[in-house]
Formats: sequence, structure tokens, C-alpha cells
Amino acid sequence: MSALREAFCADLERAASTRDLQDLRDRYLGRKRGRLVALLKTLAGAPPERRRALGQAANALKQEIEGELTARREAAEKRRGPAGAVDATLPGRAPALGHRHPLSLVREEMESIFSAIGFEILEGPEAEDDYHNFEALNMPAAHPARDMQDTLYLDGSIPAPGGGRPATLLRTHTSGMQIRYMETHEPPIRIIAPGLVYRRDTPDLTHSPMFQQVEGLLVGETVTMGDLKGTLEHFLRALFDDDTRVEFRPSFFPYTEPSTEVFITCVFCHGDGCAVCKQTGWIEILGAGMVHPAVFEAVGYDAERFSGWAFGIGIDRVALLKYRVDDIRRFYGNDLHLLEQFPS
Ligand code: PHE
Repeated sequence: MSALREAFCADLERAASTRDLQDLRDRYLGRKRGRLVALLKTLAGAPPERRRALGQAANALKQEIEGELTARREAAEKRRGPAGAVDATLPGRAPALGHRHPLSLVREEMESIFSAIGFEILEGPEAEDDYHNFEALNMPAAHPARDMQDTLYLDGSIPAPGGGRPATLLRTHTSGMQIRYMETHEPPIRIIAPGLVYRRDTPDLTHSPMFQQVEGLLVGETVTMGDLKGTLEHFLRALFDDDTRVEFRPSFFPYTEPSTEVFITCVFCHGDGCAVCKQTGWIEILGAGMVHPAVFEAVGYDAERFSGWAFGIGIDRVALLKYRVDDIRRFYGNDLHLLEQFPS
């Protein structure tokens, strides 16, 4: 009898959960295979004069075991609080974290490259006025360059040529941020302005009516095209890889003169020629140039004294190349198969 009692005490010591307590109850007090029942059965063979005392002792042990188990269960329940309450002693469950969007990753990478060399990061309005998006950038109302960008106007307010109320539009590029910043600041200037832009494009593999750009602007007293080339080379090598070669080809933008289209060696074939670069070995990656004097005049800068450069780069295009995604629309499709491949 005392051996059974000791065995029970040792088992109780080890019981950690309410589940363990239930197991113990089954093992000791269970009606069919419980150890106490087994003990009682052996009592049947004891001499009659001892049976009564043994029976009482067995009963006492049964009550003791029951008492211990109940006490332990109640203590556990008390710790857990009322039914349905939170058990503060359970380890926490880690909440599922989302993933960084590939476009955010690229944007942040561009931001950190430029902030490391002293550029400030700005944000500006996506709903822009005609003046900042076009006019002040040397694209007056009848300027043919406006046709380069198919504009989405707000409130259906396509402006009447040469007058009418000022149109509000979804900015077609981030270049308006050059104007906004220069209107309120004096040189020297070193800024980048990332953000969403909108164009009336039919979505396909490489076009989305909404995409993202980063604008860059640097203005000072002795800024040259050499500064532009050096900075962009540094930027593009940091963004892609050290072996990237950069080529500046003549181009045209109304707000820069001279203007350039910047190419890099194809990130897939490194210049050998492949389907992505259409066998040319080169990929066009951004537009840039020296700030046009007319732009300085629009913001009241002395174009004789100051010079500067600007560039605009598409974030989506860089992300397509960097992560080898084949369709720009996938960046806006909330497709978890794609998004879950990127870090949290
Ligand atoms: N705004 C141009 C575009 O959207 C890029 C650009 C920015 C070009 C600044 C020159 C200077 O393509």
C-alpha cells in the first residue's frame, strides 16, 4: 500500500499539464486497469480479520489520491484564469510578417545610394498642376513635347489651349519636383524625389498606367556634365554591379540641354547580346541632362551663375531587370507567389 502511495507521489511530481493529471487519474483510479483497483482485488485473499483495516487504508489512499489530483487541477485552472481567458504563461505565437515589395526594395536601395553621397530625399504630390508638370519645365501649352506623355487629367479638365482654368492632372513624371524644390530653396541643391507617376498607357509586358520614378537634381555654381556622368556611373554600378559599363547617348528633353539617354551593359548577357537586350548588349536605363536655362528662369535662378543636372529613372524597369521578372503588371497584381520570394 505504501509502495503504491510512493509511486503515486513520484508520478504526481512529474505531472506538468492537466493532460498528465488526467493520465495519472486513469492509471491509479481507473475502474478497469487502475492500480488501486488491482490492489483491492488482492485484498480479497487477505485474512478476514485484516480485510477491514486494509479496506479502510485503501479507501483513505484513494481519497488522498483524488484530493491531490483535484487540488493540482484546480491550481492549474486558477493559473489559466476563467474559461476562455488568455493563458499568460503560454509562449507567444510569432505573428506572420509581410514581405517587402520588390519596388520598395529597389526604391530603398536607390535612396540609400544617394543619401550616402549627401542627397536629400523628397516626396511630392501625385495630383499635380499643369504648371509644375509641364509649363515650368519648358513645355508651354502648345509645346510638341507634351505629346510625348499621354496625360491623365483630373475632373475631366483637359485645358483649353492658351487659357481656361489651370488643369489638375496625375503627374506624368517626377520632374515637377525639380520645380517645387527650387521654388523654395536656393543652391546648392542635392535631392532625389521618388514616387508614383501616371500615363495613359495600355498595360502590357513593359507598360503600366501607374509606375514609379526617382528624380534626381543637383545644382551649384560649377556643376558640369562630368559630374553628372561620374555620379550616374557610381549610382548604376552600386545598383547593378561593379562591372556594369555605362554609355551616354544624345537625346532630347525640353527641360535639359544637352540631354542624354543612359544605357548600361545588359544585366543578363553583360554585353554579349541576348533576347532581353535585343542582341545589342545594351539596355536603356534612364534619361538625364544639364538643367535647361529656361527652367532656372522659371524658378528665378540666375542661369548665368548656376548650372546643374537632373535625371529620371524608372523603378519598375530596374526591378524587372534586377529580379528577372518578365511582366511589369505582376508588380501591381498582389500575387503572393511573387511577393513571398522577397524578404520581410
Ligand atoms: N522626366 C523624364 C522621363 O520621365 C526623365 C528625365 C528626368 C529626363 C530629368 C531628364 C531629366 O522620362
